[in-house]
Amino acid sequence: MEAIILLGAPGSGKGTAAERLRADCGLQHVSTGDMLREAVKAGTPLGVEADGYMKRGELVPDGLIMRLVESRLDNGRADARYMFDGFPRTTAQAKQLDSTFLKRNGRVTNVFFLDAPRAVLMQRLTGRRVCRKCGAVFHVANMPPRKAGVCDVCGGELYQRSDDSEATIANRLDVYNRQTESLISWYTGKNLLVRVDSSRNADVLVKDIRLLLNESLGKRA
Ligand code: AP5
Repeated sequence: MEAIILLGAPGSGKGTAAERLRADCGLQHVSTGDMLREAVKAGTPLGVEADGYMKRGELVPDGLIMRLVESRLDNGRADARYMFDGFPRTTAQAKQLDSTFLKRNGRVTNVFFLDAPRAVLMQRLTGRRVCRKCGAVFHVANMPPRKAGVCDVCGGELYQRSDDSEATIANRLDVYNRQTESLISWYTGKNLLVRVDSSRNADVLVKDIRLLLNESLGKRA
């Protein structure tokens, strides 16, 4: 079992890059944000507990997140390659990921830090629109749908995430600086982290990550 991690602030483009990398890199996309939103929608006990934290733009407690991730790993194949998006988000989660991987004979092979200035993050998050039906992600200016408010992929209705209001975005970015940014030095210390400039066009960014991944696979072969 192996995993790569996409680390970055809200709006740095983790989900967009993951969606493009998933298909041709043989990686299974694990987004804790998506899993939590599904749990909230389904009204599961975990979703009910997580809902308030998410609405306020705060992190969901580590214990809940680890339960979610561990059950995902339990249901996957022993030789699976995962791409974590938005996980881990605290040093406690990173440490618990290390111990859960140790038990499963797994390891983190690469951490890509998607770096973009705060103004870019703000512009991206305030303009993001998501399909209610299939989850495809658009942006009113950067990646507009062909018809405003309608998903290009399935024709579903596009909506704005409730945590994409300006006030909640500001809180999410502050929470990132306080609780997640320290993971940059944590993974640098483990010699796993590569910084990529994610303020660039998504195609260019994904091409770079793909090259770096192939390089690292080549070195390990
Ligand atoms: P989560 O869903 O993970 O949100 P996030 O980390 O805040 O990240 P986003 O999904 O907002 O941004 P992204 O980097 O994926 O950007 P995207 O590609 O969509 O988490 C939500 C909440 O769940 C958290 O606040 C927390 O409460 C909880 N949670 C989740 N995981 C947790 C954990 N591990 N521990 C504790 N709590 C947890 O792009 C954004 C926009 O920009 C889009 O419109 C897109 O079209 C556009 N865009 C993307 N890339 C580009 C580009 N290169 N150029 C131009 N536009 C672009």
